[in-house]
Amino acid sequence: MGTMKSLLIVYMFVFVYSCVSSLNNLISLCLCLGLANSRKDVVTVTPWLAPIVWEGTFDTNILDATYKPQNITVANTVFAVGKYVQFLKDYLESAEQYFMLGYRVHYYIFTDQPEAVPTVTLGADRRITTLKIPGSNRWQEITLRRMEMIMNLIETQLVNEADYIFCLDVDTKFYGHWGAESLSRLVAAVHFGFYSASREHFTYERRPESQAYIPYGEGDYYYGGAMIGGLVREVYKVTKTCHLWLNMDKANSIEAVWQEESHLNKYFLYNKPTKLLSPEYLWNGPYQNNEVKMIRYSHVWKDVSKVRPN
Ligand code: GAL
Repeated sequence: MGTMKSLLIVYMFVFVYSCVSSLNNLISLCLCLGLANSRKDVVTVTPWLAPIVWEGTFDTNILDATYKPQNITVANTVFAVGKYVQFLKDYLESAEQYFMLGYRVHYYIFTDQPEAVPTVTLGADRRITTLKIPGSNRWQEITLRRMEMIMNLIETQLVNEADYIFCLDVDTKFYGHWGAESLSRLVAAVHFGFYSASREHFTYERRPESQAYIPYGEGDYYYGGAMIGGLVREVYKVTKTCHLWLNMDKANSIEAVWQEESHLNKYFLYNKPTKLLSPEYLWNGPYQNNEVKMIRYSHVWKDVSKVRPN
């Protein structure tokens, strides 16, 4: 009996030791490969298992080794209408410093003043196309028309010219690396104002008469309207659907509380993004905090009374 007991203890000891050592080996292997996800302070995956990209959750070398051989083209649309053309220079110059470096990038600038598009020195394999569009007396109108224009651009040109697309706001600047970690089928950015807020505080459209309506108790995240990204064909679906909803709202004389952003939030609720960019990728201002350890892209300060037409 005594021998059995001693044998059992020895077996248990060996079992526990081998478990602990294989766990240690696994951890050391991950550390060796640099695969450790060092972020325990923020949520890095959605409940539908889409990654949320934060500094410290990805390895640029591994991502570039995956995407560079694919020889992809990334389109970038931006709208510079009225006084907003003043933001173009900083936008483009900073994008040349940080946005998708090492990839083929094609900027499409929608503007009512093509002559005001600044001359910016572009890196190899990067180019600009300027597209003339009418001006507007209401900034809301400019926002509302964006979806239709991007939809038309994709339909007529981009389906054959680009693989991925990022549609961004012009009154912004890049401040840090924005690379292949942002690529996925459908990409949304968590709004800087709501990443730690609970859903009842989200500023979704709450009037059932609007196509952007989301009832209280529903919704996953509140996404910023200044960034839509993903495969060209996926972003095409976003723009086509939102364009349709915007027109339906217009016919019913209702404008969603945050225009295009409200419709986008509705779209992403029923068509889950496959990747979420943390507020590092869509910040507002120079302020940093504990979670947002680096700012990659941010709105710049502006006196709205001086740049908006209304
Ligand atoms: C503000 C932002 C607006 C809109 C709003 C949503 O901070 O300036 O553009 O996104 O949040 O509540």
